[in-house]
Amino acid sequence: MAGGCAITGIGSYVPQRVLTNADLEKIVDTTDDWITSRTGIRERRMAAENEHTSTMGIAAAQIALERAGVEAADLDLIIVATITPDMPFPATACIVQQELGATKAAAFDLEAACTGFLYALEISRQFIDNGMYQNVLVIGAEKLSSIIDWKDRNTCVLFGDGAGAAVLQSRADSRGVLATRLGSDGSKADILAMPGGGCRQPATVDSVNERIHFLKMEGKEVFKNAVNAMTGAAKEVLERSGAGIEDIKCVIPHQANQRIISAVGERLGTRDDQVFVNLHKYGNTSAASVAIALDEAVSTGIIEQGDLILIIAFGAGLTWGATVLEW
Ligand code: ACO
Repeated sequence: MAGGCAITGIGSYVPQRVLTNADLEKIVDTTDDWITSRTGIRERRMAAENEHTSTMGIAAAQIALERAGVEAADLDLIIVATITPDMPFPATACIVQQELGATKAAAFDLEAACTGFLYALEISRQFIDNGMYQNVLVIGAEKLSSIIDWKDRNTCVLFGDGAGAAVLQSRADSRGVLATRLGSDGSKADILAMPGGGCRQPATVDSVNERIHFLKMEGKEVFKNAVNAMTGAAKEVLERSGAGIEDIKCVIPHQANQRIISAVGERLGTRDDQVFVNLHKYGNTSAASVAIALDEAVSTGIIEQGDLILIIAFGAGLTWGATVLEW
């Protein structure tokens, strides 16, 4: 079997503090029933004050490195996918690089919102397949609680904090990544965005009072676009990899909303037991979402060596992507 770029170690980290739907009932005008029936989310994790995107990413990375049997000092590249970096610059990836002791690694952040982990996987695959790098660490990590408007019931019930990480290497006994499709549509940039804090609208007293440093979303528009884009990308990578949906052991969809996942599953013709869901525990953790889900599916024995996996993601930008890989 020809060798390919494969995930040789996976890990995840979620903060200890649990915020339940009942807790949210005390913060905004909402109900457990509304949140559960519209999204499937029951609780989410909240980072402590001294936990950041970097610290959560490092915790996930240490597990992934150990499982891969790779020393941090042997890493060639670190990519951190996030929309909540520790600060605008330097890159959170550089903070991770220093903390891990990855002394020879290049490091940069990647911003493709909830699709960030898939974008980072594909970029890493290019470096590994062309022989430039041997050991790459990809992290998807978010402290979304830091950009959530806790007065906006439309959004604050949906998101959570956490991190996932993967080590990528060329492996002789696995075909690894078989096909990837990445897409974007900037014409819909405004339906999911944090308008403040960049160079267009830097932080001022007015901008803070106008609450533009928080995530804003038109939920219904995002919902429709997510279903269409995720379905399209998934069909394309299935076709290009030569796999039918029945050949896929486990589908790992972006964990945003159970109704989006079900709608995509219906269009792809999945069985319920093929689709991994953990959003009831963590909500939407953006770039961390598919990485945490993949780690849990592997750790619980759902995914085993040789299985075909379909990962599908969608996020702000708009961005989306799908990958078929052999575990
Ligand atoms: N509790 C109670 N009522 C609420 C809440 C809440 N938390 N939030 C909204 N409502 C109200 C609205 O105000 C509205 O009331 P109105 O009819 O009086 O105006 C009513 O509920 C219905 O709202 P809708 O927007 O029609 O509800 P919908 O069925 O579309 O569900 C939701 C909303 C859950 C946000 C859905 O649209 C969705 O999941 N969209 C996609 C979100 C998503 O996946 N985003 C992330 C993807 S990209 C990324 O992760 C960065």
